[in-house]
Amino acid sequence: MVDVQFCRPLPPAPFTIFKLLMLTLLVLQAIPTHTLSPCKTSCGSIPINYPFGLEDGCGAPQFRHMLNCSTDLFFQTPSGSYKVQSIDYEKKSMVIYDPSMSTCSILQPHHDFEMTDIQSAIIPPSQDTVFVLLNCSIDSPVLNHYKYLCFNFAGHTCDELYGSCNAFRVFHLLTNSSPPCCFTSYNTVKFMSMNILDCTHYTSVLNTENLKGVGPLDWVYGIKLSFSVPDTGCESCKKSGGTCGFDTDTEGLLCLCSSFANATRECAAGSIISKGYNNAPWTHYLLVLLVAAYFPTSWRLVLTELSLIVFHSFC
Ligand SMILES: *[C@@H]1O[C@H](CO)[C@@H](O)[C@H](O)[C@H]1NC(C)=O
Ligand SMILES: *[C@@H]1O[C@H](CO)[C@@H](O)[C@H](O)[C@H]1NC(C)=O
Ligand SMILES: *[C@@H]1O[C@H](CO)[C@@H](O)[C@H](O)[C@H]1NC(C)=O
Repeated sequence: MVDVQFCRPLPPAPFTIFKLLMLTLLVLQAIPTHTLSPCKTSCGSIPINYPFGLEDGCGAPQFRHMLNCSTDLFFQTPSGSYKVQSIDYEKKSMVIYDPSMSTCSILQPHHDFEMTDIQSAIIPPSQDTVFVLLNCSIDSPVLNHYKYLCFNFAGHTCDELYGSCNAFRVFHLLTNSSPPCCFTSYNTVKFMSMNILDCTHYTSVLNTENLKGVGPLDWVYGIKLSFSVPDTGCESCKKSGGTCGFDTDTEGLLCLCSSFANATRECAAGSIISKGYNNAPWTHYLLVLLVAAYFPTSWRLVLTELSLIVFHSFC
């Protein structure tokens, strides 16, 4: 048995090296939990789930390049970037807002709302989104040959819009009459540009199912898109703990299990260390808690133990 009293004071070097070692170990342990998450699961407060993805290779290939999370979440179409207000995964709908669209309270220069063919097919405006073409010329196709494209919108009239909306009053004032308007569906806007339609402005209203007797001031302006989720067997991937994605070269479907392993259909047991963190953020906190609770005591224990060994070797 060595008598500690006879030992020289311990030089600081071994302790520093030891601390560095422990730190390195800690860092090494922390890194995988970050790099293993292959897909971001939210943008701001909006959850990003299948079929959507922010990074290329996440989500369904059909929805590739549609979302952009720069400052906020944006839905990108050929006519611009539209701010996403919400995504309802149960009802399979997404509400977007066109910042340059006219509404009851603001009049803005017209522009077209355009989508790609793929977007029109898999995430078109919903049935309960009504497009209102305003200040149309009397030569407009929707007042003549394509009159049938305009429908009765819960009994609402152009006069009502021109009368109760500050933004639209100007149409009425200039001519001292009511220029025609047209309540129509997305398909009309899809096949004819605003120039062909010969209307100077448009607005769009969502949740239009129960708007009988509700004035334009109380309508919700924006565009609701309704998406279809490709039936590609994503369920079995999710059940195995993976995230559905695709190969960015071939667009072949992939089940993303971790940054070290992808599978074609589902993750093999043991390959999904990362996915737990990704799907359930609370496990992250649990890990932090565990580390916080575990290390102060164990550090002290290990430090004491090692310093004893060091002491012995010095004596
Ligand atoms: C994302 O959307 C913003 C907002 O419109 C746009 O300014 C930006 O260029 C977009 N980023 C990419 C990578 O497309
Ligand atoms: C309404 O349409 C007419 C042409 O039909 C146009 O001259 C006028 O400027 C439009 N009003 C507004 C406020 O844009
Ligand atoms: C898994 O797939 C993703 C998305 O395509 C890709 O970024 C990643 O490199 C792949 N990982 C492996 C190990 O193949």
